[in-house]
Amino acid sequence: MKNILVVQGGGRANGNTAQLVRSFMQGAQDAGHSVELVNLSKTEVRGCLGCNACRYGKPCVQKDGWNELVPKILAADCIVFASPLYFWTISSKLKAFIERFYSIALRDDDPPLGRYEAYPVRDCALLMTAADDLFWTFEQAERYYRFALVNYIGKRDRGVLLAGGCGDTNGKPRIAETNHLARAYEFGKHLY
Ligand SMILES: Cc1cc2nc3c(=O)[nH]c(=O)nc-3n(C[C@H](O)[C@H](O)[C@H](O)COP(=O)(O)O)c2cc1C
Repeated sequence: MKNILVVQGGGRANGNTAQLVRSFMQGAQDAGHSVELVNLSKTEVRGCLGCNACRYGKPCVQKDGWNELVPKILAADCIVFASPLYFWTISSKLKAFIERFYSIALRDDDPPLGRYEAYPVRDCALLMTAADDLFWTFEQAERYYRFALVNYIGKRDRGVLLAGGCGDTNGKPRIAETNHLARAYEFGKHLY
């Protein structure tokens, strides 16, 4: 049994992303995993201030939801990052959350080229929804995930589910008319 933390970076209350996350979580729960959801629309996590207080042994100075999430992040075997596609990348809420990993970086006296600190190694996955469904729709979002979370922070990728063609935000969410929810369920079920 694994401990899975799903971090949802916004989206409508019952929107495409929320539905995708629910299907994924159901699959993971049915596989026997412990799954918890943090919705960044409810738990506010602001972007990093760059003050560097955390580099001198202090917890992050910001008074928002981050510090209470840190024990959950450290205890998770896998963090699943979920977001609607906003202007061709992840939402600002999810980006702000990722910036705050700065405060849990560990000293690394011999870092690999291009990295300055170490991070607790855990697994990760990405779930995204978008209106469009072109071959380049998720390119920047997926690249950011692979570069920042997998290559830089050093998480181990468990997979990516990119759900395009979910309908625009002017109308009702249409993900239920696609096969993405079934795919998300299977992804959760077979994550491990
Ligand atoms: C601010 C904003 C920016 C968006 N940018 C894009 C985009 O760049 N490409 C795209 O295909 N869809 C874009 N969309 C549409 C959403 O990604 C899509 O409707 C998504 O499934 C909405 O998620 P939700 O139903 O969970 O709110 C955008 C929507 C909003 C509100």
